[in-house]
Amino acid sequence: MIACVPENLATFAGELRARFAGRSSVTVDAPLASRTTLGVGGPADLLVEPVSEADLAVALRFCHQHGLPWRVLGRGSNVLVRDGGFRGMILLLDAAHFGRVERTGSQLRCGAAARLKAVAGSARKEGLAGLEFLEGIPGSVGGALRMNAGAHGSWMFEVTESVRFVEPSGAVLEAAAGDLQARYRSCDFLAGRVAVAAVLAGRPAAPEAIRERMEANARQRRASQPRTPSAGCIFKNPPSVPAGRLIEELGLKGTQIGCARVSEIHGNFIVNTGGATAADVLRLVEHVRTRAGGAGITLETEVEIIGEDSPPTRMRHA
Ligand code: EPU
Repeated sequence: MIACVPENLATFAGELRARFAGRSSVTVDAPLASRTTLGVGGPADLLVEPVSEADLAVALRFCHQHGLPWRVLGRGSNVLVRDGGFRGMILLLDAAHFGRVERTGSQLRCGAAARLKAVAGSARKEGLAGLEFLEGIPGSVGGALRMNAGAHGSWMFEVTESVRFVEPSGAVLEAAAGDLQARYRSCDFLAGRVAVAAVLAGRPAAPEAIRERMEANARQRRASQPRTPSAGCIFKNPPSVPAGRLIEELGLKGTQIGCARVSEIHGNFIVNTGGATAADVLRLVEHVRTRAGGAGITLETEVEIIGEDSPPTRMRHA
């Protein structure tokens, strides 16, 4: 289908607003850099914040009808937006409606906008072990499902029982996690759907023991990962060697292009030293990839790269 972002975005946005039942917001030409942890990239044509599943379904049907590309943005920790911005609709799930965390037995039902840190905190308070690893991942439940986020030897789908999601047609469905065929750092099934909630399973344990494990994880992370803005690990770990170790062994730590630099603390992080562009980051990604390729290792990016290199050329409307 051909994408048809119209030249008069404001009229288009008005058409969408009129279809919402709730107070969902639509912003035209919305900056995205500040909504990502890396802090680079251009604006989205449309930024939509649905306040309910019904309005989310309306937005998805609208995209479907107009052939408009869309993406969901969680906490923006694993996304690189190119400098020309995103032609289409970025969906942000309203935290008040989609951010709830509720306990049932040894399970937590979590909205997709819930922060992973908050989920780990709730699990600790409720005395549910097994979710400690989520504490340090700077993302939301929805993003963690989409990319099967992991840390400290655990990963999202290891603790997920079921996922509720909205189809592009607007249908709301629920599926057992085992049916979604998640793999290392991806759940491809969710690429064309929007996860709105998940049931996570824990095991009863003493809150104090859970807290100790969370603190040990946090200490390890503080010692091994940079605090300068980044998108987390930029590459997936190839099967033969952790990407960070490979990059260190290739002598690439500290390599800088523009204001993007390979972290001296952890080789698999590219940090924005202030004022980096997406082009700086992408050139550095290619440089590292080429050097790894020279050593016979293929590095695949872990971050989702979206948008265009150049801004659109639209006619101005009076
Ligand atoms: N290492 C080096 N040099 C470096 C970095 C790492 O030699 O510059 C070595 C470490 O000493 C260690 C090995 O490489 O022996 C692995 O490093 P680390 O323990 O830091 O784990 P990682 O595989 O690099 C993974 C996840 C991280 C997660 C950490 C902690 C991936 C791609 N990354 O990193 O996730 O926080 O484990 O559990 O799987 C992310 O996904 O964005 C992310 C940061």
